[in-house]
Amino acid sequence: MMRIDRCVCFDVPFAELADVVAETGASSVEALQAHRRFGQKCGLCRPYVRRMLRTGEVVFREVVADGA
Ligand code: FES
Repeated sequence: MMRIDRCVCFDVPFAELADVVAETGASSVEALQAHRRFGQKCGLCRPYVRRMLRTGEVVFREVVADGA
C-alpha cells in the first residue's frame, strides 16, 4: 500500500515538519521553509504539508493534490 510520509526530494518527514510547527508556530509552507529545506523541487509534497498544517496528519495513504 502506498505510504507517503515525507518530502521525498529532500528526505524530510512530515512528522519532523509537524515538530517544527509545534516549536515555532509556523502555519504555512513558506513559514516552514524558513526552518527546513523541503518542497522546492518537484513540489508534490506541498499539498500534503498543507493538509498536515490543517489536520496534524503526518502519514498519508491517498493522493493529496492541490485544492484537496
Ligand atoms: S517531494 Fe517535496 S519537493 Fe519533491
